[in-house]
Order: sequence, then structure tokens, then C-alpha cells
Amino acid sequence: MTTNTILLASRPQGVPTAAQFQFETREVPAPGAGQVLLKTRYVSVDPYMRGRMSAAKSYVAPFEVGQPIAGGVVAEVVASHSEALPVGSVVVGNLPWQEFSVADAQTLNRVPADRAPASYFLGLLGMPGLTAYFGLLDICQPKAGETVVVSGAAGAVGLIVGQLAKIQGCRVVGTAGSDEKVAYLKELGFDEAINYKTTPDIAQALAAAAPNGVDCYFDNVGGAITDAVYDLLNKHARIALCGQISTYNATETPMGPRPEGKLLKTSTKLQGFIVSDYLSRWPEGVQQLTEWYAAGKLKGEETITEGFDQIPAAFLGLFSGDNTGKAVVKVA
Ligand SMILES: NC(=O)c1ccc[n+]([C@@H]2O[C@H](COP(=O)([O-])OP(=O)(O)OC[C@H]3O[C@@H](n4cnc5c(N)ncnc54)[C@H](OP(=O)(O)O)[C@@H]3O)[C@@H](O)[C@H]2O)c1
Repeated sequence: MTTNTILLASRPQGVPTAAQFQFETREVPAPGAGQVLLKTRYVSVDPYMRGRMSAAKSYVAPFEVGQPIAGGVVAEVVASHSEALPVGSVVVGNLPWQEFSVADAQTLNRVPADRAPASYFLGLLGMPGLTAYFGLLDICQPKAGETVVVSGAAGAVGLIVGQLAKIQGCRVVGTAGSDEKVAYLKELGFDEAINYKTTPDIAQALAAAAPNGVDCYFDNVGGAITDAVYDLLNKHARIALCGQISTYNATETPMGPRPEGKLLKTSTKLQGFIVSDYLSRWPEGVQQLTEWYAAGKLKGEETITEGFDQIPAAFLGLFSGDNTGKAVVKVA
């Protein structure tokens, strides 16, 4: 049989475009012993994939030009040579952007479909949810009454960070790129939300939103927002350095204020992290997030785009703020 697949056509310089993606029809091999044939249901598009499109050394190998792009996928088993995953099982795994693929059963995790919509295992109950969980609770360790600021607040990770910080009893301030997103954050229980694209003075807006200073900063974005938050840090502040999406398409190293003095004077702890640092604790994170979701304390907002051919557009939309919550493409 054959499948549609999306290859990396070329490495982007600056902001990626549709030219970086090539659609092709490829043969799908028959599954061997211990393998399953999968029909893709949902494809996750994530900002970290921008890094994998470049050749630069990082914590994960670059995509190869001329080879399929791969990432988080929810799929259904349609043929099986694995007792663990019979036909009809729904799984999540790191799989190519293809309509059909073959994988070793042991590289896949079964989705407990009775607990939540299957796509949530790419968002709230998957990698982004775990990123929010460990970054906020393990690195920032917020206490009730403290002020938590999260940038990229209306995205997959940020929305969960804000909700988790509210569960901890914190004052929560988010930044996001549209008035609709700001309104949604307030609806979700954020104490203050700022549209960083229209606010004339982000430093002033943040200072007004955090009158007692900032105890925890969950940084998804970097750049000017982060520069402004650093001026508001309280003594013994904690910063979880999760992402720097404002710089992912930069062609030169962005220059900015040197923050070390501010961190020093406030005895701030700043820690970069990759969610896979916490791999051994993922079951704990999924369990706790699932409990809070079941109790109605966490919402799993998604922006779902339909159609395999829309995957590149959904990915590119991450850099223009098209998504609220987790960006997912529904394939079948
Ligand atoms: N450390 C880890 O293990 C880990 C794991 C997952 C994600 N991350 C990082 O966490 C961050 C959020 O990831 P996510 O999956 O939750 O993505 P996301 O927030 O759902 O999607 C990206 C969002 O970033 C915002 N954005 C895009 N360009 C921007 C810019 N130049 N300046 C400010 N905001 C911009 C857009 O929202 P606006 O409308 O608000 O601009 C967009 O919707 C990313 O930096 C990602 O790389 C890190």
C-alpha cells in the first residue's frame, strides 16, 4: 500500500514557509513481527520542530532534508503483529507526518480513550501538559499568594501553566498576542492578561499587573517580554526557562539587556529544562493532570485544523499566533 507523506524540502532561513514542505506518495512496508500498521488520526504541530528544521546542534537531532518530518501523533492500529496492541487500539507515539505508517509496538503508548479525547494526549495529558507540570511545579515551586507570570500564556503549555498556578493559589498574569486570547485567559481565571502586541509599554503593563512583584516566571517566549519581567523579580524568584519562541526564526543572535545583575541581586534561580529531563516521572505527571482534569480543575483547550494537507499551514500558524491552546491537525 502507499501513503501520503510530508518531507522536509529545504532548511528555512528565518521564518519558515510552505516551500519547506514537500508532499509525496511513498510505499508503506508490511508490518513485521512486533510491529503494527497505523492510521494517523491526529498530528501535533509544535514550536520545537522549528529547531529540528535547522542543522544546528540541539537536544534532538535535526530532520533530514528529503525525509519525512516526524513528531507527536495519535493513531489507530489497523493491522497488528503485536499481542499488546490489537487492531482498534489507539496509540500515541513519535511518528512521521504520514496518513499510514508502520512502527514497533514497543515504541508506542496506548491511549486510555475512556479518560479524555484522544487528541488530549498530544496536549493537556501529553508532552505540553507535562512541560507545564514539571516546569511550574518542580522548578518554580509556586506558593499560595505568590505572583506567577507566564509568557505565551494562551498557547498549549502556557494555558496549562496558568491553570496549574491558579490551583496552587497564586496570582497569575499572562501575556498573549490578541484581545480574544486575553479575554479567554481572564475567562479561565487568570487575574491579569496583557496583549503584548498592542500594549504600548509592556514593562509598565506588567508592573501594573504584578504590583507585588514577580515570584515565578514561566518563560515560553523570551525577548522583550522577558526583559521586562526581569525588572520585576522579587527576592528568591524562580524562573523556568521553557521556550524562546520570539527568537526561533532569528537569523542573528538577538542582543538585549544583560540580565545577570538582576538575577544576582534578587537571588533568583533560573533553570532551563527539557521535558524529557523528567522522563522517569512522566507517569506521575499524567496521573496528576488526569485527576485535575477529571475534577474539572483543568481545561484542555485545542485549536483543531482539519485535513492532512493542512499540517504545514497549522505548523506555520504557530509563529503568527493562529492557535489558542494546543495546535492539532485532525487527519482521520
Ligand atoms: N522545554 C521544553 O521541554 C518545551 C516543551 C514544549 C514546548 N516548549 C516551548 O514552550 C513554548 C510554547 O510552546 P507551545 O507548544 O505551548 O506552543 P504554543 O504556545 O501553543 O504556540 C506558539 C505560540 O507562541 C506565540 N508566539 C509566536 N511567535 C511569537 C513571538 N515572536 N513572540 C511572542 N509570542 C510568539 C503565539 O501566540 P501569541 O498569539 O501569544 O503570539 C503562538 O500561538 C515554545 O517556546 C516551545 O518551544 C518547550
